[in-house]
Amino acid sequence: MDILTSKANGILTIEFNRPDKKNAITSAMYQLMADALKDGESDAAVRAIVLIGKPEIFTAGNDLEDFMKNPPGPVGDRPVAQFMRALSGASKPVVAAVAGAAVGIGTTLLMHCDLVYAADNAKFSMPFTQLGLCPEFASSMLFPQMVGYQRAAEKLLLGEAFSAQEALQMGLVSRVVPAAELAAFAQGQAAKLAALPASSLRVTKRLMKGEQGEAITARMAEENKHFGTMLSAPEAKEAFTAFFEKRKPDFTKFS
Ligand code: COA
Repeated sequence: MDILTSKANGILTIEFNRPDKKNAITSAMYQLMADALKDGESDAAVRAIVLIGKPEIFTAGNDLEDFMKNPPGPVGDRPVAQFMRALSGASKPVVAAVAGAAVGIGTTLLMHCDLVYAADNAKFSMPFTQLGLCPEFASSMLFPQMVGYQRAAEKLLLGEAFSAQEALQMGLVSRVVPAAELAAFAQGQAAKLAALPASSLRVTKRLMKGEQGEAITARMAEENKHFGTMLSAPEAKEAFTAFFEKRKPDFTKFS
C-alpha cells in the first residue's frame, strides 16, 4: 500500500509509503488520503490526525508520470482536490511531520495543517515555475500571508529549496526537531491534543482560521484554472520530459 493509515488512542495516522518513488503522490494515493480524512472527520473516536512520510523523504510531490498520463481537468472532484478540501476543512487538529524533501504539494499542504514539525534534514520547495506551472491549493495566498510577500516571492518565483531552519524562521513550521525524534515527537504532540476537550480544539481552530475558508476556496479555483492550462502547455511537457530524461529543461525556445 502506497498510503498507510492507522487509528490508535484517538489519533489517525496517515503515512506516505512509496519510498522507491520518493513518495510521489498518484491520484490513487490522493483518493486514499481523502477517504481517510473524511472517515476521520466523521469518526468521533478520532481526535487528532498525524500526516507523516519516511525518515528520508516526506514526498516528491505530485507523481509527474501520473500528471502526464492523466492531466487533471477542472478542480471539481478529482482526488487531489478532494484531499486538499478535506485537509483544509478538517475540524480536527492536523499535525504534519516532515523529514527529508517536501516538494510541491508536499510543502503546499503544510499551509493547511495546524502543527508542523520538521526534522533537521527537512528540505522544502515549491518548484512550480521550474516546471512551467504556477502555485496551487491557495499557496499563492497563504504563503505570502504567512511569511511576507518578498520571502514568499523568492521561494515561489525561483522555486529553490530551503532548509528546516529557514522554514522555521519564516514561520512555515512550528518547530525543528532532531530527525531521529521526529515521529515520536509528532505522535506525542498529537496525543496531547487527543487528551484535550475536542469541542475546545474545534472552536479554537475555527476562530483562528476566521473567515479564510471562502477566500481559500476561491483562490484554489483561480489557481487551478491556470494550473490546468499550464499543465498541457509545451513548457510543462519540456520540464517533465527533462526530469525523466535526467537532464536540465530548456525553456529558451518558448517566449
Ligand atoms: N513523480 C514521479 N516519479 C518521481 C518523482 C515524481 N514527482 N520524484 C521522484 N520520482 C522517481 C524518479 O523518477 C526515480 O524513479 P526511478 O528509480 O524509476 O528512476 C525515483 O523516484 C527516485 O528519484 P530520484 O530523482 O532518483 O531521487 P533523488 O533522491 O535523487 O531526488 C527528489 C529526490 C525528490 C529531489 C527528486 O526526485 C525530485 O526532484 N523529484 C521531482 C519533484 C517534482 O518536481 N515534483 C513535482 C512538484 S509539482
